[in-house]
Amino acid sequence: MSDIKKDVTILAIESSCDETAASIVVNGRQVLSNVISSQIDIHTLYGGVVPEIASRKHTERVTQVIREALQEADRKLQDVDAIAVTYGPGLVGPLLIGVSAAKGLCFATGIPLIGVHHIEGHISANYIAEPALEPPFACLVVSGGHTHLVLVRDYGQYEILGRTQDDAAGEAFDKVAREIGLGYPGGPKIDRASREGDPHAIVFPRGKVAGSRYDFSFSGMKSAVLNYLNTSRMKGISVNVPDVAASFQQAVVDVLVSHAGDAIDQYGLRKFALAGGVAANTALRAGMKEMCEEKGAEFFCPPPILCTDNAAMIGSAAYFEYIKGNFSGLDLNAVPGLRLGQR
Ligand code: KG4
Ligand code: ZN
Repeated sequence: MSDIKKDVTILAIESSCDETAASIVVNGRQVLSNVISSQIDIHTLYGGVVPEIASRKHTERVTQVIREALQEADRKLQDVDAIAVTYGPGLVGPLLIGVSAAKGLCFATGIPLIGVHHIEGHISANYIAEPALEPPFACLVVSGGHTHLVLVRDYGQYEILGRTQDDAAGEAFDKVAREIGLGYPGGPKIDRASREGDPHAIVFPRGKVAGSRYDFSFSGMKSAVLNYLNTSRMKGISVNVPDVAASFQQAVVDVLVSHAGDAIDQYGLRKFALAGGVAANTALRAGMKEMCEEKGAEFFCPPPILCTDNAAMIGSAAYFEYIKGNFSGLDLNAVPGLRLGQR
């Protein structure tokens, strides 16, 4: 790192799901702009993300979003040292829009390209939120598509301790929200409804995976909610939506916090971080903070705007590849099923 003399300015692009985002990040930790164009309104009409519509919206927005990110940061394309883009995992059409935009700009200007893993981006949001944070630490990544408990051994070096065996945490939030009539996107709506409910009103099971201490299972918890709703309807009992939301949320939070606590104990961890869209959840942030304090571990969690999809986190992850000289060729392709640690 010592031979890097000048600031490294990265233009980052993220389009893996339903946010078209671009950001200018300096030295992996300083965000000069973070533009996010959300498609939530249109996907809400369909109760979830429609990949074809998402691709079309990214195509319409991507150039303008990049332009806004440069303008807000008061930078020109010539000031940029590298262009970073999420190339997986995610929806193939949406990923291709960002990858193609980044490759086009790199081809036209000669600026180097850096392909970034989306989950690595989520983890790296913690470097922006806490400029003093350095590996090693553990990170719980909870998003709409992923639930991973990860040891971050060094920048870009990960050991996965556990992952979900079925639904991702965010997916479970979204499905339960739909069933209790809260609609899409489910996570923030359950979070909000829970504030009016009793988290101990209904006891939903805490999902376990036999023989695996750190893996997760959320589909049984989701089914338990559906069974509760069906049974209540059959018996003509009215359902208290805030109570169901709060009780389900508490069950998910309990499982996530207890796995994280086990990892802190077993590996003697001093630092624990949260990442991904579900890390915006109020109860999860509070539960994780309390557990870490009890165990004497430092707790890190990005502000909600850096937990849900954004390009600043991609610019941060890319910086650590830049200083290692890890660039991508113009043959970079979208890889919808890209695994963490795979390049
Ligand atoms: O990381 P993200 O923005 O996109 C993916 O990479 O998947 O995560 C989106 C997920 C959605 O499932 C959404 O419902 C969930 O994060 N989410 C939340 C909250 N905000 C977003 N879940 C629980 N509580 C929240 N406050
Ligand atoms: Zn994400």
